[in-house]
Amino acid sequence: MKEHHSAIREAAAIKIRALREAGKKTPSLAMIKSEEEIAGIREAGHINSLVLDAVAAMIGEGVSTAEIDDVVVKTTRQLGGTPTCLGFHGFPRAVCTSRNNVICHGIPCDTEVLREGDIINVDCTTTYGGYVGDASRMFMIGRVDEAGRRLLRVTQECLSLALDGLGPLSPLGDIGYRIATHAHANGYTVVREIGGHGVGLAMHEEPFVSHMCTKQGEGMLLLPGMIFTIEPMINEGSRFFTCDKQDGWTVRTADGRRSAQVEHMLLITEDGYEILSK
Ligand code: MF3
Ligand code: CO
Ligand code: CO
Repeated sequence: MKEHHSAIREAAAIKIRALREAGKKTPSLAMIKSEEEIAGIREAGHINSLVLDAVAAMIGEGVSTAEIDDVVVKTTRQLGGTPTCLGFHGFPRAVCTSRNNVICHGIPCDTEVLREGDIINVDCTTTYGGYVGDASRMFMIGRVDEAGRRLLRVTQECLSLALDGLGPLSPLGDIGYRIATHAHANGYTVVREIGGHGVGLAMHEEPFVSHMCTKQGEGMLLLPGMIFTIEPMINEGSRFFTCDKQDGWTVRTADGRRSAQVEHMLLITEDGYEILSK
């Protein structure tokens, strides 16, 4: 890999050394993106959001999840990108569609037709110009019961609370601490084994971003130039799940109750954060 001069990475190298000498946990320099990379990842994130906008414009009652996949493929290609998920470790489709009791990694399917009352997460990842954008949104199909609406509202609040005041020197663990505290206060559980992640040069990079932490102030201190996702999976019932033995992908709640998820991709800046895709 060719190394370009990067003020952000040079500043980070100095801060990492000083923080480590002071006994703090820090990101590795590999987790800090250069100015050039940030510009490219910002574009990929923007394109990814446009693809999700196209999904938002067509999703509704009577639409199959395969039709959502078609729109993702078509829109991504029109915009000059490629769907990152297609073929990723053998994933058979371009996007993840996770409905009701599916937590994540649902596979779009012709026979899965959206009905009034469904809640569904559409998780879209786009490669554009060699860089990767990743985000997901929840959609309600027609009228959703009060419990479902509350689940979506609290999940969105969990993400908002995690973002509140986030910036340089925020402990990574505070993200999970705030998410879990709010979810539990509302009687929900948090999926622990699957989480957010560094992103930008590939879909999944370090660090792992846990949505569950029992203490404040834990984990590495964030630094400008880090790009990662926050994507809490909040369950109505048990936090435990199963992975479909036939398709190898679909992650469902163990108790059959519903799960919701929202995912933003963000950059840590000098004075806070910038959302790169949502
Ligand atoms: N977009 C998902 C994430 O947020 C990962 C999709 S896995 C794939 O990490 F297999 F569908 F690609
Ligand atoms: Co995603
Ligand atoms: Co992600």
